[in-house]
Amino acid sequence: MTNQPRDRWNSRLVFILAAVGSAVGLGNIWRYPHAAFSAGGGAFLIPYFIALLTAGIPLLMLEFGLGHRMQGSAPASYGRAHPKWESLGWWAAMGGLIIAFYYTVILAWVSFYCYELVKMLVTAQDQLPWDSKGGAATYLFNYVLTGDENTKHAENVFAPLNWGALLLNGLMWLAIYVTLRKGAESIGKIIIPTITIPLVLLFILFFTAINLDGSSAGLSYYLSPDWSKMDSWQEVIKVAQGAYGQIFFSLSIGFGTMVAYASFLPKKADINNSAMIAGLTNSGVEFFGGFITFSVLGFLALNNGVFVSDAVEGGFGLALVSYPTTISQLPFDVTGQALIGLAFFGSLFLLGYTSAFSLVEPMVIGIVDKFGLSRVAVLRIFCLFGWVVGIIFCTPGGFTLLDTVDHYLNSYGLLGVGLMQCILVGWVYGPKKLRDHLNHVSERRATWFWDFCIKFFTPTVLILLLSLNAIDDLRFLWSDEGQLYSNYTGQTQLIGVGAFALTIVAAVFFAQRKTNKQGYHDIPEFDYGSK
Ligand code: PFF
Repeated sequence: MTNQPRDRWNSRLVFILAAVGSAVGLGNIWRYPHAAFSAGGGAFLIPYFIALLTAGIPLLMLEFGLGHRMQGSAPASYGRAHPKWESLGWWAAMGGLIIAFYYTVILAWVSFYCYELVKMLVTAQDQLPWDSKGGAATYLFNYVLTGDENTKHAENVFAPLNWGALLLNGLMWLAIYVTLRKGAESIGKIIIPTITIPLVLLFILFFTAINLDGSSAGLSYYLSPDWSKMDSWQEVIKVAQGAYGQIFFSLSIGFGTMVAYASFLPKKADINNSAMIAGLTNSGVEFFGGFITFSVLGFLALNNGVFVSDAVEGGFGLALVSYPTTISQLPFDVTGQALIGLAFFGSLFLLGYTSAFSLVEPMVIGIVDKFGLSRVAVLRIFCLFGWVVGIIFCTPGGFTLLDTVDHYLNSYGLLGVGLMQCILVGWVYGPKKLRDHLNHVSERRATWFWDFCIKFFTPTVLILLLSLNAIDDLRFLWSDEGQLYSNYTGQTQLIGVGAFALTIVAAVFFAQRKTNKQGYHDIPEFDYGSK
């Protein structure tokens, strides 16, 4: 098997945009406001920025650095850092792939909102789609999720199938196929419009939101710390847990994406600055997006005579129920409301799309790097497989199932991979060795502080977070107050835990296969001479 030259980005800008595209996604729009909101608004921002500087950017530098130094996918790169650690890379990539299985279904639902809004505008109807179906919650649960007004969303009901969602999900996988087909080259082509259009749309939403009556009350809730949420140690820990969890998910750390993307960089690449730019841009978008959400919350609070903190529920509901409800209350005519709705769901869709394909790439390049198979063949199998597996989420119980799988993969998979990466670089490979590489190729130097974060600080935080998550999930064993995740049934929990277990089994399986590529385990030469 001859070794092909490695795929390359067209420019450093394209690499940074691809990394930002992966990071900025659904998590920025519906996870971040909820995390900030439930932690008492402004009080959240302090631990959030500490988390960014002490864990987010250092880990991003680690992933970029390893991918760049080892010139390989996550399994190849970790395996080259130490032969026994290849499975860590498969674990990461497999977690990403499973997340992609339902992330695309969420995008299918979001695209359905876009489709219905366009249809409404074109046929000049005088009601928003959800208002014509009895409100945003009824619309979501009894129509969008089920595809049929006579079927209600229910846990553990796998039939009947939502054919509309299945079809749209198929289109998502087709789009992913086209985007990833030529690797860095085809991603580079798609990334510029898919990143810039939603950012422009967010600006439009921003100006609309801050001009609403009551927005200033919402913004002051967002920006001024509510210290009463940090009265006890337990509360401080809870807020910090939310902040670190948000940073990890939002920065796309722990799924092999950033390692794979950095492996497509040429030798000359300012890694430290790129990590800084990607990290700050991602948080900038979240922070900025928060202005939209909280202005709207202030408006809602004024309109409905409640406190900002009682204005909406969070999580998935925030994006798919609270936002549509709010759109119906905006002081514009119905066409204006539909256009704002389209701007919102359109930007959500595009931001999510650039994250969705970045979740698939690590597994694809992992297999290509190890087995030397054709990228297109591997991609075809994964896209078809993704569409078929996605069927279980296109059912009345799919929403609950997806929420549960998401919980277990993020609470344990992502944080577990993050922790093992710190151990690999901090204690096995050596932080100094990787830092030397980073500093050789970068303009801005990483200092002892980076070593300290990777070796001691970040792993300590990750162990704490993992333990806290496990305590939250297992509390029911010793306390009446505890419950399994969201109190869903045993069957749902089993599928969630099973998905997590599958990532580990797959990791061991792929790591044990023999490679048929020459030099797969060798650390590539890196000539720093002509920097
Ligand atoms: N960072 C993405 C978001 O905020 O929605 C989600 C994500 C994408 C996580 C890619 C991990 C990943 F590898």
